[in-house]
Amino acid sequence: MVIGAAARVAIGGCRKLVSSHTSLLVSSQCRQMSMDAQSVSEKLRSSGLLRTQGLIGGKWIDSYDNKTIKVNNPATGEIIADVACMGTKETNDAIASSYEAFTSWSRLTAGERSKILRRWYDLLIAHKEELGQLITLEQGKPLKEAIGEVAYGASFIEYYAEEAKRVYGDIIPPNLSDRRLLVLKQPVGVVGAIAPWNFPLAMITRKVGPALASGCTVVVKPSELTPLTALAAAELALQAGVPPGALNVVMGNAPEIGDALLSSRQVRKITFTGSTAVGKKLMAAAAPTVKKVSLELGGNAPSIVFDDADLDVAVKGTLAAKFRNSGQTCVCANRVLVQDGIYDKFAEAFSEAVQKLEVGDGFKEGTTQGPLINDAAVQKVESFIQDAVSKGAKIILGGKRHSLGSTFYEPTVIRDVSNDMLMSKEEIFGPVAPLIRFKTEEDAIRLANDTIAGLAAYIFTNSVQRSWRVFEALEYGLVGVNEGLISTEVAPFGGVKQSGLGREGSKYGMDEYLEIKYVCLGDMNRH
Ligand code: SIN
Repeated sequence: MVIGAAARVAIGGCRKLVSSHTSLLVSSQCRQMSMDAQSVSEKLRSSGLLRTQGLIGGKWIDSYDNKTIKVNNPATGEIIADVACMGTKETNDAIASSYEAFTSWSRLTAGERSKILRRWYDLLIAHKEELGQLITLEQGKPLKEAIGEVAYGASFIEYYAEEAKRVYGDIIPPNLSDRRLLVLKQPVGVVGAIAPWNFPLAMITRKVGPALASGCTVVVKPSELTPLTALAAAELALQAGVPPGALNVVMGNAPEIGDALLSSRQVRKITFTGSTAVGKKLMAAAAPTVKKVSLELGGNAPSIVFDDADLDVAVKGTLAAKFRNSGQTCVCANRVLVQDGIYDKFAEAFSEAVQKLEVGDGFKEGTTQGPLINDAAVQKVESFIQDAVSKGAKIILGGKRHSLGSTFYEPTVIRDVSNDMLMSKEEIFGPVAPLIRFKTEEDAIRLANDTIAGLAAYIFTNSVQRSWRVFEALEYGLVGVNEGLISTEVAPFGGVKQSGLGREGSKYGMDEYLEIKYVCLGDMNRH
């Protein structure tokens, strides 16, 4: 059973519940807070984790013109908080405070930075329930999945607390006998980290962890749709001892904040997770100041099911890869390529499994599929379905908005899809699994690579030889073989082609925040 908006108990009228610093605004123009969200919000407020101001130089600050933006619960449309709407001036101050903090933060020993990061990790884990609730409240994913995101997000802080101590340089055999040649690795400087809404915590910690570990300082811009988790995580960072200015958070006017970060000569690196279109713009805007850039952009992941696959493994793996976060991840299976001989059996078994998914409010026990982030996301899914059906695809399951209303969409399986339909070319970012038929291994590889994206791909086969042939041929940065959930802090995450630049997580993720300095010591034979 799921709780729809109608079943919720609305309380309160149009009123400000608390001070402007932690305001929960219930407006008469908007839906009133439901009992669930209300009690969760009040608990979060009393724990001090519901922050609505930006963080600049270690201080919680309103926007300079007192403007605010509203944060909605996507499951109900209700307003859950009113947060500072910051822009150019606040971002410039955040950059200045980061620049100032860089000198002392980068001069701490790796061990000192490591201890602070470890304390932050411990606090994130100690507050995993509350952080999970915040994620469900502002992003919509089921609470269990949200708490899973907290563990995943915190793991980057733990990992980089350890990795801070392993930033080794090199000594190079010299080219002349009176020289000694060294390589040092040093932090790049101030980092601008621009994060998306689909993982309100993990996409921030995956950037901030290695940045702080390597000695960089950071200005974070969370998504305007999900700033509350970022602010709570920043509060815990302060409690852990991250010094003023080393971590700043500004949110609100995205173009102004982006422009300020990109045009600043003090910001030496931009790291971004989001759409390919925005990534291209950021890359161009970073050129005049020649910043280092890491981009984790859109995907178009194929999940390739071969005739020789174990059907149960293929169904379970594709289900996990497709429906995680209701289809709203960059590594979600976007196209399910199924070989001729197993196509019908797979379609039936997969549809049966999809039918068991439980759509509902993320706070409802048993929910596995939350809402989409907003109505624009639902409209995009609808237009892709319309396009596919008009070109001959057939809906097996779902295919329309869920009866719960709001932005809930039915988990959908659609067959007879071809690689030239919109949903095969672009990221669906919703709970729709298109099944595409193929005949040979060569066809599968050609179809899989026939896209500008190259983030994640999945293969299901029982042949070791085939899996090697195919994963070597796939133009993707990540490949899962007989596995649909492959993200972990210990492995490199990132794409090829137009899915991005650089890697996050693992030892490789640290390199993105380090510059290499070569030192040549001359006249070394003198006594
Ligand atoms: C993303 O959607 O960008 C990240 C997904 C993940 O870390 O697994």
